[in-house]
Amino acid sequence: AMRNELSALVNTVKDPETRKAFDTEMQSFFFLFTRYLSDRARRQELDWDRIESPSEDKIVPYAKLSSGSPQNLNKLAVLKVNGGLGTSMGMTGAKSALEVKDDMTFLDLTVRQIEHLNTTHRVDVPLILMTSFNTHEDTLRIIKKYANQQLRITTFNQSRYPRIYKETLLPCPRSADDDKKNWYPPGHGDLYNALLHSGVLDQLIAEGKEYLFVSNSDNLGAVVDDKILQHMIDSQSEFIMEVTDKTKADIKGGTLIDYEGSIRLLEVAQVPNEHVEDFKSVRKFKIFNTNNLWINLRALKRIMESEGMELDIIVNPKTTDDGQAVIQLETAAGDAIKHFNNAHGVNVPRSRFLPVKSCSDLLLIKSDIYSLEHGQLIINPLRMFETTPVIKLGDHFKKIAQFQKRFKKIPKIIELDHLTVTGDVYFGRNVTLRGTVIVVANEGQRIDIPDGCVLENRLLSGNLNM
Ligand code: UTP
Repeated sequence: AMRNELSALVNTVKDPETRKAFDTEMQSFFFLFTRYLSDRARRQELDWDRIESPSEDKIVPYAKLSSGSPQNLNKLAVLKVNGGLGTSMGMTGAKSALEVKDDMTFLDLTVRQIEHLNTTHRVDVPLILMTSFNTHEDTLRIIKKYANQQLRITTFNQSRYPRIYKETLLPCPRSADDDKKNWYPPGHGDLYNALLHSGVLDQLIAEGKEYLFVSNSDNLGAVVDDKILQHMIDSQSEFIMEVTDKTKADIKGGTLIDYEGSIRLLEVAQVPNEHVEDFKSVRKFKIFNTNNLWINLRALKRIMESEGMELDIIVNPKTTDDGQAVIQLETAAGDAIKHFNNAHGVNVPRSRFLPVKSCSDLLLIKSDIYSLEHGQLIINPLRMFETTPVIKLGDHFKKIAQFQKRFKKIPKIIELDHLTVTGDVYFGRNVTLRGTVIVVANEGQRIDIPDGCVLENRLLSGNLNM
């Protein structure tokens, strides 16, 4: 039935060129879908008892790496996966188009970082952006202003797959140009297919590039690192995943495991329900995947042309606006680790993982805790503590539009340890927060923190006359 429905979709395209490309895309989707069905039939699940922590030599501490030669940079390209929307922050455009610091977007900061790298070392590291149908236009708009600059920027689109109804397992869209909401970008694991089909993989190899540094476009800590690149060359590793020590707050990220002697990525979505608590524990799984990945391009091409880049399917359940249950079949880029030779993890400092997943993260990044140097975030030297403040903004601050409305200006938090805000709260200009500050507006109440207010070790709740 799926095959017929997909052919019907393909037949809705008039232009032969477009139809051919769309047909290829639907074939890739069909391949993923049939794998999903057979996995389901076989109830393919990891056997929990066979999962072991990776051996010590598979997780190399960053401190053990030695500095690298800048010459290596000529063989490097940088790629940002930039197909996600940031739905958890209530965004409808590309998350990377959000202004994060000093009026600059994630993309602007990445451009600054690479321009700086290129001018400092007199090298030519190109920037590659993988976009999706959701983020393509936003991305082009931002990079347009860099057209006449030294830096070479290439963009390519990842796949657009049809969402499927959970009950019937039939595709949601009725025609190739059906509404956006019936389609989805199939996760960052789509990177490998998209690199190949767009011709970008061949183009990079033809230019003499050998290594690709991949990271999430919302990870401001993912800057090019010469030590890791040198280590990759010295250890003849075809794939390196940067991992970092897990804290109790890091429950989302995947972890590296040893499964029957081979190294694998384990995502929470693959963990049987009864073991999820185990998976989240910091004791058994000490590290998690930052999604900063270093990939040998020739090895990638070899794998794509021989065994193929089969990745574990992550089923992402969603509900449509009219309440129907649909699923999206997705894959994760880090899962590719199992296909490469000498692949392993490098345990990097936390500073290389600085993502913006929530408006609480955004407040921290925008604040005076950080300043910018050539597009890179640097902790303010005036910060007296080793750690950054813990910030917990409640549901009223969940969406980006609400966040922007509720902070007239970002408070000064250089001496803050902990901030919790719940309920209907508004911050004025030039507010300073120090120590532990808790603001709780109860149901039906509103708290306005006035301009110029200084709060130090304060608990504010209920009705306030300030
Ligand atoms: P996340 O998994 O954090 O998701 O993506 P997201 O889409 O940005 O945010 P939410 O969950 O909707 O709030 C990690 C990185 O992978 C990219 C994102 O752009 C981000 O840089 N990504 C995600 C893709 O490139 N393609 C995808 O299909 C999904």
